Amino acid sequence: MDIRPLLVILSVCGQMQAITVDTDYGGLPLQIERFQGEPTLFTLRNRMASSWSWMVSNQNCSAKCNCAIQWPTALYCDHKGLEQFPESLPSRTQYLFLQGNTISGFSSTAFANTTNLRWLILDQNQLLSEKLDGSSLINLTQLVNLFMNHNNLTEVPSGLPGGLKQLRLAYNQIEKIGPGAFENLENLTLLLLQGNRLKTIGETDFKGLSLLNLLDLSQNLLETFPKHLPPSVQQLYLSHNALTGIAEDSLQGFNSLCYLRLRNNRLKNDGLAPGVFNVTSLVELDLSFNQLTEIPVVPTTLQYLYLEVNQIGEGSTNSRTMKAELGYCSLLLLLLTIDVWGQQPRPRPRPKPPTTKKPSTTKKPPKKELEPKEPTDFPPVIYGPPSSFPDCPRECMCHSSYPNALYCESRNLRKVPVIPSRTHYLYLQNNYIDSVTADSFNNATELKWIHLGNNRIRSIEKQVFEKLPNLLHLYAQRNLLKEIPNNLPAGLEQLRLSRNQISKIAPGAFNKMEHLALLDLHHNKISDSNLAKNLFKDLKNLIQLNLAHNILRKMPPNIPNNIAQLFLDRNNIEEIPQDYFKDFRNLAFVRLNYNHLTDKGLPKMIFNISTLLDLHLAHNNLTTVPLFNLHLEHLHLNNNNIESINGTEICPLTPSVDVYDPDSVPKLRYLRLDGNHLTPPIPLDVIMCFRHLHSIVI
Ligand SMILES: *[C@@H]1O[C@H](CO)[C@@H](O)[C@H](O)[C@H]1NC(C)=O
Ligand SMILES: *[C@@H]1O[C@H](CO)[C@@H](O)[C@H](O)[C@H]1NC(C)=O
Ligand SMILES: *[C@@H]1O[C@H](CO)[C@@H](O)[C@H](O)[C@H]1NC(C)=O
Ligand SMILES: *[C@@H]1O[C@H](CO)[C@@H](O)[C@H](O)[C@H]1NC(C)=O
Ligand SMILES: *[C@@H]1O[C@H](CO)[C@@H](O)[C@H](O)[C@H]1NC(C)=O
Ligand SMILES: *[C@@H]1O[C@H](CO)[C@@H](O)[C@H](O)[C@H]1NC(C)=O
Ligand SMILES: *[C@@H]1O[C@H](CO)[C@@H](O)[C@H](O)[C@H]1NC(C)=O
Ligand SMILES: *[C@@H]1O[C@H](CO)[C@@H](O)[C@H](O)[C@H]1NC(C)=O
Ligand SMILES: *[C@@H]1O[C@H](CO)[C@@H](O)[C@H](O)[C@H]1NC(C)=O
Ligand SMILES: *[C@@H]1O[C@H](CO)[C@@H](O)[C@H](O)[C@H]1NC(C)=O
Repeated sequence: MDIRPLLVILSVCGQMQAITVDTDYGGLPLQIERFQGEPTLFTLRNRMASSWSWMVSNQNCSAKCNCAIQWPTALYCDHKGLEQFPESLPSRTQYLFLQGNTISGFSSTAFANTTNLRWLILDQNQLLSEKLDGSSLINLTQLVNLFMNHNNLTEVPSGLPGGLKQLRLAYNQIEKIGPGAFENLENLTLLLLQGNRLKTIGETDFKGLSLLNLLDLSQNLLETFPKHLPPSVQQLYLSHNALTGIAEDSLQGFNSLCYLRLRNNRLKNDGLAPGVFNVTSLVELDLSFNQLTEIPVVPTTLQYLYLEVNQIGEGSTNSRTMKAELGYCSLLLLLLTIDVWGQQPRPRPRPKPPTTKKPSTTKKPPKKELEPKEPTDFPPVIYGPPSSFPDCPRECMCHSSYPNALYCESRNLRKVPVIPSRTHYLYLQNNYIDSVTADSFNNATELKWIHLGNNRIRSIEKQVFEKLPNLLHLYAQRNLLKEIPNNLPAGLEQLRLSRNQISKIAPGAFNKMEHLALLDLHHNKISDSNLAKNLFKDLKNLIQLNLAHNILRKMPPNIPNNIAQLFLDRNNIEEIPQDYFKDFRNLAFVRLNYNHLTDKGLPKMIFNISTLLDLHLAHNNLTTVPLFNLHLEHLHLNNNNIESINGTEICPLTPSVDVYDPDSVPKLRYLRLDGNHLTPPIPLDVIMCFRHLHSIVI
C-alpha cells in the first residue's frame, strides 16, 4: 500500500459544532420516483399546502386526514394532533403520512384493510415499543419505506415485513437490537439507527441484511467497533460514539465500503490494528475529532481524508516552532499533515484532463418532469373553496385575512382570470397559462406583485402594463418568452425572467427603470449583440444582475456602477477588458464560473477591487492564480489549469505595512484550488500570507 497525497482538510480551530439536525428524515433526501408515480412530501407540501387544495373529508377519506386530488393513493394525516392511529383507512391507501402527531402505538388490525401500503411515515410521534403489536405489519407485503425516526421506541419493532427497502429508526431510545431482528429483510438497502442508545452489537443482530448499503450507527454509545456488520455496506457511519480502536479483522471482506465516518470518537493510534483501513474500495475516511497522534496508513484509492482536531505531530520540535509562529491550530494541523506526506515518495502527477474536452456538453440534461400531452390532456382546473368575496374568481382562493392577495397558483389554469381591483399580490405560478392579456387586468390598477413563474407564457400584451403603474415585482421565470416584454412599468423593483428563451432585447427595454434593484435573466439565449450599448444605462439602483447561462462571449457593456452582484457563469467569455471594473463602487460578488477565461484575457490588476468579497473563476482555463485585493474573502479557482502557486507573488500585502496590524492582513478565508494540476504540500508562503484562511481545498 503506498500513500498518495490527497487532501481535503477543512478545519477551524475550536469549532465543535457536533449536533446534526435531522431535518429531512435522517439526513437523506427522500427518493422521488416520479416515473413510478410516487408522491413526495416536499413537492406536495410546497405546491399544495393550503387546505383548500385538498379533497377534504369526503366519504372516502378518513376523518382528520386529507386526501389530495392528485394522489388518490396518498393519505395525509401528518401534523394533525392525532393521539390515536386513525381508524378505517381507505383500502386504496399506499402512502400513509402520519408524521408530527402524538401517536403512541397501533393495534394488530390497524392495517387490516390497507394491504397495499407502500410507505408508512411515522416520524416525530411518541411510539412506544410496548404499544406496537408485533404482528400488525407482517402482512404488508408491498411496504418498502417504514420511517419511525424521532419516537420513543426502546426496541426494534418486531414482525417487519420482508419487502422493506428503507427502515429509519433514528433518534429513538433503542438500547439493544436483538438477535435476528432484521433477519427476513433481504431487500433492505438503508438502515438508520443514529441517535439511539446502542452500547454493543451482537453477533447476529444484522443477520440477513444481504443488500444493505447504508448503515448509520452514529450518535450511539458504542465502545468497540461492531463486528459482524453486513459486508455489503458502502456507507458506514459511526461518528459520535466512544470507539477507542478498531481490530484487525473489523473491515475484512468489506469490498464495497466507500465511505467510513468515524468523527468524534476516542480513537488512538495504538487502538488501530496495522493496515486496518486497507480497504481498497474506500473513497472517504473521516477521522477528525479523535485522539490520533499519527496519520494511519490509508489505501491509494482514498480521495478524502479528514484529520482535523487530532493530536498529530504534537511534541515534535518542528511543530512547536510552527505553532509559535502561526498561532492557528487549523493551519498547524494542515501543515503537519502535509509535512508527513512530504516525506513520502513524490506523487505521480495526476493525468491532465484532455484539453479538447467540450465544455459542459457532457452533462446529461436534467430529467424532464412528466407533463400532460397537449392539447387533450390538460388536467381540469381546480376550483377554490367558496369565498366571502363576491369578486373572487371561481378558480382562485381569496383569504379573508388577506384581502389584498389573490391565490391562483397550481390550479391548472390556462388563462389569467379577471383580477379584482383590491388585489395587490397576485399568485399565478405553476399553471398552464400561455399568454397574458390586458382584459384580465382592467380593474387591477393596485397590483404590486405578480408571480407568473412556471407557466407556458409566450407573450405578454404590452397594454397589460399600462394598467399597472404600481407594479413592483414581476416574476415570470420558467416560461417560453422569446423577448423582454415591452413597456415594463418604470417603477419596477424586481424583474425575474430567468429560464425563458429570450434572444431579443429592445435597446430601450429598461429605459427609465431607475428603481430596478434585481434583474435576473439567467438561462436564456442572450448573446453579445442583444445587449445594446446603453441598455442598462438608466438602472442606477441595480444591485444584482444575473446573466449566467447565456451565450455571451464578451463582458456586458456599461453595467451600472452601483451594482453589488454580477453573475455571468456559464457563458463563453474569454476576456475582461482593461479597466472594466474601474468605476464600480459596491461590487462585492463576481461569478464567472464555466467560461473560457485565460491568463491572457485577464489584465494583471483586474480583480484588485477593494470592495470585492467573493470571486468565482472555477471551470475556466487559467494557468496562474490572478492577483486580488486584500479584502477578498472567498476565491474559487477550482477546475482550471493552474500548475503552481507562488505565495509571494499573490500575497496582497505591500512589503511596507506592519504585519501586526490586523487590518492589513489579507482577509482570504476560503480558497478552492482542486481540479488543477497542483499537488500538496501547499507552499508555506501561501499559508504565511493568508492568515485568515480557514479552508483550502487542493
Ligand atoms: C369511494 O369508494 C367507493 C367504494 O369503495 C367507490 O365505489 C367509489 O368509486 C369511491 N369514490 C372515489 C371518488 O374514489
Ligand atoms: C375494514 O373494513 C371493514 C369493511 O369495510 C370495516 O368493517 C372495518 O372496520 C375496517 N377495519 C379497519 C381497521 O379499518
Ligand atoms: C396475516 O395473514 C395471515 C395469513 O393470511 C392471517 O392468518 C393473519 O391473520 C394476518 N395477520 C394480520 C395481522 O392481518
Ligand atoms: C417520549 O419522549 C419524550 C422526550 O424524550 C417525552 O417528552 C415524552 O413524554 C415521551 N412520550 C411517551 C409517550 O413516553
Ligand atoms: C426482494 O426483491 C425481489 C426483487 O424485487 C423480489 O422478487 C422479492 O420478492 C423481494 N423479497 C421480499 C421478501 O419481498
Ligand atoms: C491490503 O490488502 C490487499 C488485498 O486486499 C493485500 O494484498 C495487501 O497485502 C494488503 N496490504 C497490507 C499492508 O496489509
Ligand atoms: C371594474 O370595477 C367596476 C367598479 O368597481 C365594476 O363595475 C366593473 O364590473 C369592474 N370590471 C371588471 C372587468 O371586473
Ligand atoms: C490594488 O488597489 C489598491 C487600492 O484599492 C492599491 O492601493 C494597490 O496599490 C493596488 N495594488 C496593486 C498591486 O496595484
Ligand atoms: C485552454 O488552453 C489551452 C492552451 O493554453 C488550449 O489548448 C485549450 O483549447 C483551452 N481550452 C479551452 C476550453 O478554452
Ligand atoms: C515566487 O515569486 C518570487 C517573486 O517573484 C520569487 O522570488 C520566488 O523565487 C518564487 N518562488 C518560487 C517557489 O518559485
